[in-house]
Amino acid sequence: MKPFPETPIIKIEELYGREGEVSQLRRLVLEKKRWVAIIGPRAVGKTSLARAFATQYSSATGKPAVYSNFAGIHNFTEFVERFGLDVMNLVHENKLKLRRVSLGIKFFEAVLEREKNIPIAPRNPAALFDEVMRALPEGSLLVWDEIQDMRRERNKLLAALWRLHNVLAEKRPIIIFTGSAMGLFKKLLNPEYDDYLYGRAPVRVDVEPWDVQTGVEFLKRGLLAAGNVDFSIDELREASIKLGGFPGYLSSYGRGRIDGLTHRRALKNAHEEAVKRAMSELRSFVRLRPQREYQRKVIALLNAMGEGVSRPSSLARLSGLTEVSVVNTLETLLEMGIVEKESKSKVVSIYRFKYGFYQEAALRIRA
Ligand SMILES: Nc1ncnc2c1ncn2[C@@H]1O[C@H](COP(=O)(O)OP(=O)(O)O)[C@@H](O)[C@H]1O
Ligand SMILES: [Mg+2]
Repeated sequence: MKPFPETPIIKIEELYGREGEVSQLRRLVLEKKRWVAIIGPRAVGKTSLARAFATQYSSATGKPAVYSNFAGIHNFTEFVERFGLDVMNLVHENKLKLRRVSLGIKFFEAVLEREKNIPIAPRNPAALFDEVMRALPEGSLLVWDEIQDMRRERNKLLAALWRLHNVLAEKRPIIIFTGSAMGLFKKLLNPEYDDYLYGRAPVRVDVEPWDVQTGVEFLKRGLLAAGNVDFSIDELREASIKLGGFPGYLSSYGRGRIDGLTHRRALKNAHEEAVKRAMSELRSFVRLRPQREYQRKVIALLNAMGEGVSRPSSLARLSGLTEVSVVNTLETLLEMGIVEKESKSKVVSIYRFKYGFYQEAALRIRA
C-alpha cells in the first residue's frame, strides 16, 4: 500500500488509529441498528472512517453500502438526484441488486443512459426518494457525506427521513451521516426536531484529531514504508504539533517528505493547506446565513477572534452582533470542534480556536 494517499481511506486495514471509533460504530450500527452522525472538522478523517466502516460492513454482512457525497448540494431535488444516481451507478457496476423496479428506478436509469448525464429535473423528488428507498435491499447501509451544505428545503429531507422511519420501519436502511455540525446537521441533531425522526435522531460520534504521539507514529510508519526519507523524531513531533494531529494535514506533510521536500518546506506547505481548508470551512459557515449584513458581522467576529479576542462582550462590540448572537455563533463553532471554551466565572466564558491554523484562517477571511 502506498503511504499517505490523497483520497479518503476505503479499506479498514488501511485506517490508522481509529479502533475505538470503529468499535463504537459497530456497536451502534450492527447491534443497536441506530443511525449515526459522524461529526468533526475538515481533514480529521470523517469520510475515511465512514467509508472504511461501510466497506467492512458490506463484506461482513453481504449487504450493500451506498456512499454519496452531498457537498455543494443546495436543495432536496438535487439531493434526490445525487442519491438516485449513486444507487443506479452501483446497480450498473453489479454491486447492488434492487428488490423491485419501479417508475422511480426507471427514471434514474433513463438519466444514467442519457449522453453526458444531463439531468432531467424530476417532477416529484419526494416520491422518487421513497421509491428508491423501497427498492433497496434490506440491511443496506447508506453513507451520506457533507450534508451540512443543503441550505434550502431542509424540512423536505427531514420529512423524507420521517417517512422512512414511519413507513419502512424496521426495513429502513441504516444511515451514517457525516459532516460538520452546522446548518442541516445542527437541525438533525437538535432534539427540537426529533419529531421528524420519530424519536430516533442519529447518535453522535465525534471524530477528534490524534494526540501528538499518535501523529508521530502515523508519520513514522508511513515514512519508513516509503523508505527514501531521512527524518528525525523531533521533526515528526514538530509536524504533529503544528498540524494539530489532523490525519489529512499529516498525510500531506508525509507526501511532501516522500517527494523530497525538506522538513521545513513540507511543514510549511501542509500548514498552508490547513489554513486554506480552514478558511473554506469558515466561509461555508458564514454563507449559511442568508443576509449579507449578518454575514459581514460574523466575518468581523471571526477576524476579531483571529486577533486573539476571546470575550463575548468584546466580540459583540467589535462585530456589531448582539452578545446573544455572539454566544450562539461561538457555541456552533464549539459544536463543530474548532473552538474551545473556558469558564472564567459563573457567568463569563471565553472562547478560543483550538488549532493555530483556524486562528490564522479567521484572521485572513474577508467579506
Ligand atoms: N484513520 C486514518 N488513517 C490513515 N489516513 C487517514 C485516516 N483518516 C484520514 N486519513 C487521510 O487524511 C485525509 C483526509 O481524511 P478525510 O477522511 O477525507 O477527512 P474528512 O472527511 O474529515 O475531511 C484522507 O485523504 C486520508 O488519506
Ligand atoms: Mg470528508
